[in-house]
Amino acid sequence: MNAQGRTKLNQTPEWAALAEHREAFGRTHLRQLFADEPERGSAYTLTVGDLHVDYSKHLVTDETLRLLRGLADATGVAGLRDAMFRGEKINTTEDRAVLHTALRAPRDAVIEVDGENVVPAVHAVLDKMAAFSERVRAGGWTGHTGRPVKNVVNIGIGGSDLGPAMAYEALRSFTDRSLTVRFVSNVDGADLHEAVRDLDPAETLFVVASKTFTTIETITNATSARDWLLTELKAGQEAVARHFVALSTNAEKVADFGIDTANMFEFWDWVGGRYSYDSAIGLSLMIAIGPERFREMLDGFHLVDEHFRTAPAEENVPLLLGLLGIWYGQFFDAQSHAVLPYSHYLSKFTAYLQQLDMESNGKSVDRDGAPVEWQTGPVVWGTPGTNGQHAYYQLIHQGTKTVPADFIGFASPVHDLLPGLIAQHDLLMANFFAQTQALAFGKTPDEVRAEGVPEELVPHKTFRGNHPTTTILADRLTPSVLGQLIALYEHKVFVQGAVWNIDSFDQWGVELGKVLAKKIEPVLTEGTGGENLDSSTAHLVETYRSLRGR
Ligand code: F6P
Repeated sequence: MNAQGRTKLNQTPEWAALAEHREAFGRTHLRQLFADEPERGSAYTLTVGDLHVDYSKHLVTDETLRLLRGLADATGVAGLRDAMFRGEKINTTEDRAVLHTALRAPRDAVIEVDGENVVPAVHAVLDKMAAFSERVRAGGWTGHTGRPVKNVVNIGIGGSDLGPAMAYEALRSFTDRSLTVRFVSNVDGADLHEAVRDLDPAETLFVVASKTFTTIETITNATSARDWLLTELKAGQEAVARHFVALSTNAEKVADFGIDTANMFEFWDWVGGRYSYDSAIGLSLMIAIGPERFREMLDGFHLVDEHFRTAPAEENVPLLLGLLGIWYGQFFDAQSHAVLPYSHYLSKFTAYLQQLDMESNGKSVDRDGAPVEWQTGPVVWGTPGTNGQHAYYQLIHQGTKTVPADFIGFASPVHDLLPGLIAQHDLLMANFFAQTQALAFGKTPDEVRAEGVPEELVPHKTFRGNHPTTTILADRLTPSVLGQLIALYEHKVFVQGAVWNIDSFDQWGVELGKVLAKKIEPVLTEGTGGENLDSSTAHLVETYRSLRGR
């Protein structure tokens, strides 16, 4: 029992049943599972919106899935989900509601936080964003010198960067190509330097994105951007209003920075940073793709929200994906999870998911603060195919680790420039299908021998297979489909956090490094305050200072 009166996860009968089932499952091979059930491919496919989700290449039977759903029931996943959608403060360590689902709710929805319907405010901000975006896109937003803005530079980090940056790449073919849109996040000055070095300041708008408006990287970069702009334009503070807008929950800090709060686009403390790119944080994206496309994306999110909220457990895709991850993490000792999109446009998708998943579920105490006795969130990694095939797929195919993987692909390309490039798409997708096939079924020693391979090379050329994968297939990577995909992963992460009984919506683990960096900075610059440093850090700092000639 824990302090909430809940039986600990690993002491529930459902956990014990799964452990026993795992024992019996042993080394059952996917070859066997497919032989036993000839229609497994279609039987183990679910559809949500435009997404076809094939989970047949997983090390599961109907019994496994039934037991996993039993674990979800026993751990109250559905109850917590409903509490989230109702606006209850399920982020207990920060005493906050978790309502990113309200950001994509229809205009007439009613969702209350502390007795107040938040939906009208959400739509008021969306409307304000739309009007501003249209103005910029039409050349009607002019800079200090009267020239229209043509360059948009988003300055933010973490959730205030990864989401819009990822979505901008993903939806590039829907963007206004006459605009230059860039994203600056790193406090390494090289990032800002490279972003602005070839831009005309008179035509540049900085979008400063920060929920708290206190994040050191963002405020430092925004300050440097302001210095650059005013110096280049030979202008005073009055130029800031035409070249800086803010996306934040903190009007006071925005005003302190010198940004007119009329040019601030608001969001709320019930939107977690990593769940925020469909809020005001998406302004740069909206400028790039236009309000109509942005709303299509929100509709895609909402479609999956509704599916997650209402679909029966047997058909509930986020629930299924979350439970599959738990199956491998708890019972196969899988430490990581690869996300492998076969779309160049999704080049930043996995980096985005890293924050979503790892900042949410990288926890080792439960909701009461007691240490968890089970594995929590996996290491999420991956890059677009086919590039990864020529790099790390070797380890997935023939290494010693279990790496469950998601393959995401599309039937039709969204670029339409050259017929030759369209034809390349079949080659891309042939690789996409081939990889999950190879991972699942492998190649037996006998099959290798039958090819005349010398006996000493047979072990090297054998593929044991049995590597679990999910295949997510859609027609095209549209704004709606992107929204659907993101919501799918958001809710998958939710399901896992609920089962593990952790708070998926706080991020205390990022604090210590921030505090220590603040203490170390004066040691680097002034050489003072380093008395209490450990000997390793002290020596490194000393070496750094001497290399800098200090
Ligand atoms: O340091 C982690 C974090 O708080 C993330 O959760 C957040 O997305 C990021 O920093 C940026 O925070 P902000 O939007 O307040 O600048």
